[in-house]
Amino acid sequence: MTKRGFFVSFEGGDGCGKTTQMRLLLERLRSQGKDVLETAEPGGTPIGRQIRRILLDSANDALSPRAEMLLYFACRAQNVDEWIRPALAAGRIVVSDRFTDSTLAYQGEGRGLTAELVRELHAIACQEILPDLTIYLDIDYRTGLARARARNAEQDGPDESRMEAQAEEFHERVRRGYLALAAAEPERIRTIDARQSLEAVAAAIWAEVQPHV
Ligand code: TMP
Repeated sequence: MTKRGFFVSFEGGDGCGKTTQMRLLLERLRSQGKDVLETAEPGGTPIGRQIRRILLDSANDALSPRAEMLLYFACRAQNVDEWIRPALAAGRIVVSDRFTDSTLAYQGEGRGLTAELVRELHAIACQEILPDLTIYLDIDYRTGLARARARNAEQDGPDESRMEAQAEEFHERVRRGYLALAAAEPERIRTIDARQSLEAVAAAIWAEVQPHV
């Protein structure tokens, strides 16, 4: 039998604080000597990082919703094949900043492309790979967007504001999408209130992850 690791994903609307929380979790796991693969969607692999640039550059406002969805999945297929599947087969812990739940919330609900279509593409791009545990950091979209836009304005790196620049109604649909996903799969998707202090959120995340690792 193939030895199988454990797959954790982080999810949430823009500005929910998941990148910071993921870093804290990774530090904690590594300080305990755990063998962890850290990855992200879109991004992760070197090819994925090139696709990320196309997806998030605000100059690409002509990107069509279906092309956008296919690029997110192209990025994920590369991540699954190059990094995630081999890591899980080797028994490692995989921690990913976003995965297919993001596509369900942003493209399925936000763009109205439907969950059915997203799930069909997931089957092609990721085959049977799905997170064992998903940490969903819930925040009202206005608070999240204000944080995300302030961070982008300060940042020197490449322009990554295309998604944040979408209308507020889009982000409202994304949050509704996440809440529906979490309600449908409460065992896998653990909802944490992201308005709590950084320490309280980190403790809640650790309480979810620790029993599995
Ligand atoms: P990040 O800033 O958390 O790395 O995410 C990049 C943006 O891409 C964020 O606005 C969420 C969006 N996104 C989608 O729309 N669909 C997806 O499948 C993924 C993974 C991210």
